[in-house]
Amino acid sequence: MSVVIVVGAQWGDEGKGKVVDILAEKAEAVVRYGGGANAGHTLVIGGRKLVTHLIPSGVLHPGKACVLGDGMVVDPQTLLEEIAACQDRGLLAGGELKVGEGAHVILPYHRLVEGLREEQRKAIGTTRRGIGPAYEAKVARRGVRIRDLFRPARLRELVTQNVDELSPLILHLGGTPPTASDQATWVDEALAAGERLRPFVCDTSRWVHDAIVAGKHVLFEGAQGGLLDIDHGTYPYVTSSSTIAAGACQGVGIGPSKIDKVIGITKAYATRVGGGPFPTELHGDAGENLRKAGGEYGATTGRPRRCGWLDLPALRLGVRLSGMDGLALTKLDVLGGLPEVSACVAYKLDGRELDELPQDPDDVARAEPVYASWPGWGPIGDARTIDALPDPARRYIDAIERLAGVPFTMVSVGADRAETILLRDAF
Ligand code: GDP
Ligand code: IMO
Ligand code: MG
Repeated sequence: MSVVIVVGAQWGDEGKGKVVDILAEKAEAVVRYGGGANAGHTLVIGGRKLVTHLIPSGVLHPGKACVLGDGMVVDPQTLLEEIAACQDRGLLAGGELKVGEGAHVILPYHRLVEGLREEQRKAIGTTRRGIGPAYEAKVARRGVRIRDLFRPARLRELVTQNVDELSPLILHLGGTPPTASDQATWVDEALAAGERLRPFVCDTSRWVHDAIVAGKHVLFEGAQGGLLDIDHGTYPYVTSSSTIAAGACQGVGIGPSKIDKVIGITKAYATRVGGGPFPTELHGDAGENLRKAGGEYGATTGRPRRCGWLDLPALRLGVRLSGMDGLALTKLDVLGGLPEVSACVAYKLDGRELDELPQDPDDVARAEPVYASWPGWGPIGDARTIDALPDPARRYIDAIERLAGVPFTMVSVGADRAETILLRDAF
């Protein structure tokens, strides 16, 4: 029995979908524990691509349970569309999907409030999937949960209470408060969606517990990345959930003593979408070239991702926050085409050298990145062992491993499942 958490070490989009798909081969269940359809996890097998938003990235392995934990925020319509898309491909045919009855439900008024807030001066640059407002309702103890979709009177009362409370805010933000007829439509749609989801809904905390006790390998799939964590990320430019490894225990309802290993994922460079500090960001042609080479456009929103050099002090923070035992390195091939590759190895602030990204936004703004450089290494997409990599690529990997402080378990040299160098067993 082994329980492994896979988590992003940066600002998301590190390649969690690809890595989880590979590790799912040996797991009995893949479990999402936080976030919602703000996530976009890409799987490519034999050139065929699938992007998952809510459904765990183990979905391509028939018979493996795909669990949506209680810590998630689920838009029922989005989930139904994703289930249908999977079923069209012959996936999820055997009762693999399990949806937590305690997960919170995203409703149209969450997206409405978020859209209006994002029009304000200090926008976060969110995915506009209603994630933040749904988590706000949860913490305010007014949230609608999946189990409420089977209790019409309770659902109606909750929607009315929420809309009544949000209407002054909607007006203040320049929007039009929902009418009674809007609310009735939303309740009817949510109830109908609930009926369609009913066969998948269960007590997922208990289900995962029983799987672990029965000696199964279980994989927890993180969404976003540690630096977008609500408590420990680059606040306020973060998402609204616990994206670090500890969030897995909380989101699924599993004790920390059940976790065996935490595998982090980092790109060979850095990206982020939306606002927030990004000291190693490359602007102008350099940024655009990296974006093109890496195909760095959001898997959920299609937005161009901001691109820059690997930030090792930020990676060290991500490694520490999640207590990572090992790292998967992705997109090493993307840097291969550059004449020279740089990475930030430390920060200088007020005459001191820092080995982690500072936490205060003013300090981040003042901190000066210290860069090291390596010669480029050319195409490496065919490499399947470390020894097959050119020397400069190996030297870059060694430097990251040394500065991140944890060994690599996997090096990814292309988007496809096959384009992978496996170094250590995750389970
Ligand atoms: P996630 O959110 O962490 O699952 O990552 P995304 O799917 O949003 O973004 C990662 C992108 O990089 C996807 O388009 C993947 O297909 C692609 N990808 C993953 N690993 C590699 C790699 O090693 N090389 C290249 N070139 N692309 C990769
Ligand atoms: P995956 O799982 C990259 C970012 C948004 C925004 C901030 C808050 O694919 O790695 P939200 O909609 O969550 O309130 O937005 O977080 N963000 C992501 N960035 N990958 C993601 O998910 C993200 N999910 C949210 O761009 O800056
Ligand atoms: Mg993504």
